[in-house]
Amino acid sequence: MKKLAVIYHSAQGHTEHIAQHVAAGAREVAGIDLRLIRAEDLASAPEELLGFDGFIFGSPTYLGGVSAAFKAFMDSTGGLWKKQQLKGKLASGFTVSSLPAGDKQSTLLSMFVFAMQHGMIWVGNAILPEQHSGVPYDEAANRLGSWSGMMAQAGHSVAADAFVSGDIKTASMFGKNIAEALVRMSFAELVESDQ
Ligand SMILES: Cc1cc2nc3c(=O)[nH]c(=O)nc-3n(C[C@H](O)[C@H](O)[C@H](O)COP(=O)(O)O)c2cc1C
Repeated sequence: MKKLAVIYHSAQGHTEHIAQHVAAGAREVAGIDLRLIRAEDLASAPEELLGFDGFIFGSPTYLGGVSAAFKAFMDSTGGLWKKQQLKGKLASGFTVSSLPAGDKQSTLLSMFVFAMQHGMIWVGNAILPEQHSGVPYDEAANRLGSWSGMMAQAGHSVAADAFVSGDIKTASMFGKNIAEALVRMSFAELVESDQ
């Protein structure tokens, strides 16, 4: 079994809602042992990351970056970074914000750079936007057109589950794709034995 963790922060529940759909997609893949973990719970015990083969990071976009709670989790991994103990593990990420653009790309970039500094292997969101093949925009997978990681958008001050069906579908497909990529990876163990 490959161990995959969806690690997220969510203040008002939107990112958590998407995290649950990402996790549900990943759980469809045979050979995946998935855990959904709040970033705040890991910040005091970052060594728990060593027990996983891959991670999907999730944060709301706050002022064009990850939230403070997610950054606290990232910064808690400094000791692991020094020894490159997360090298070779798979990483990907998603973000939720209230505006159509909202500088979400910047949030994904900070997750990507974090993963690169740790020597992880980043996998993007390989889903063609379905509106190009005639699916109505709100129902289309990857309607927001993000390949570097996954994006979802919920309007300002709406309920935590008020996403259009396209974003829910994208979350689930994304989780499944990342889990399948992890199952296909066979070099994590090789990198570990290298150290
Ligand atoms: C401090 C703060 C900063 C925010 N900055 C942005 C932003 O830069 N772009 C954007 O589109 N939305 C922004 N938002 C909206 C949140 O990204 C949005 O409400 C998101 O759904 C919150 O996720 P959560 O419910 O998981 O906490 C911001 C919200 C807060 C509270």
